[in-house]
Amino acid sequence: MFLGLVNHSSYIILVEFKKNNLPWLNFFQKFPFFTAHHATTHTMIVAQLRGANKIYKAGDSTITALDKTDLDVRTGEVLLIIGPSGSGKTTLLSLLGCVIYPTEGEVVIKDVKTSELNDKEMAWLRLNTIGFVFQSINLISPLRAQENVAFPLKLMGKSHRESTRLAQDALRMVEMYDKRRSFPRQLSGGQQQRVAIARALVTNPSLLLCDEPTASLDVKSMAKVMDELRMLANEGRAVVIVTHDHRLEQYADRVINVENGQVEKVR
Ligand SMILES: Nc1ncnc2c1ncn2[C@@H]1O[C@H](COP(=O)(O)OP(=O)(O)O)[C@@H](O)[C@H]1O
Ligand SMILES: [Mg+2]
Repeated sequence: MFLGLVNHSSYIILVEFKKNNLPWLNFFQKFPFFTAHHATTHTMIVAQLRGANKIYKAGDSTITALDKTDLDVRTGEVLLIIGPSGSGKTTLLSLLGCVIYPTEGEVVIKDVKTSELNDKEMAWLRLNTIGFVFQSINLISPLRAQENVAFPLKLMGKSHRESTRLAQDALRMVEMYDKRRSFPRQLSGGQQQRVAIARALVTNPSLLLCDEPTASLDVKSMAKVMDELRMLANEGRAVVIVTHDHRLEQYADRVINVENGQVEKVR
């Protein structure tokens, strides 16, 4: 194991390389301008769809889940993607999260054209840049809150000590530190979702993607979760939230509507 220094004009980040994780090094050689999230006051484009669409083939027929879309997602903003069921919201979010690939067009994450990445580089980018929060909270039930939050850090190869420290910091941020030893089933829906948010942000991602994060929550828990997400955006992350719930509009800087696979800007 050794420490690598990556210099990027105004700041330097320390990157820990493990012997068996050399793809990270290759990644930085290929994309020297790519860096981890850092607090910043100026906004930048984190993710971009450039004429990206998604078409599924089923036998002779095709389903256009999402028509060609141009979209910029910027740091510091809460972007709400709203539309009825089946309109293409999850498809749009999955493209931004590099979970699926566009049929045509390009997905660009922090100036990196994702079509130019191999599988390992893509996995690295996802793990280090993007956090996901889902409607179905999908915490790992035999793990305590803190162990759930530490899980992505273990995947990154961080030590137990470091993982625990960062997991506790993330739980503090969503005011769930006191419940760190609870199992998911001992928590309310809202509390579980806040643990899921802590898990999504523990890797310090620049982009937080949330698919109907408040769908199973009562109004009070919803407000709490949205306040947390708002705060994370204020810290300079980009937060994208997919929903069919118009009540969330009050928390957003920008709202775009998806209807029948077509994106239209609302405000
Ligand atoms: N893997 C897939 N295969 C075929 N059709 C799909 C697939 N994923 C989504 N679709 C279709 O694309 C459309 C948009 O789906 P989705 O993005 O999940 O909508 P939403 O999240 O707004 O409910 C729907 O008609 C859906 O049936
Ligand atoms: Mg959906």
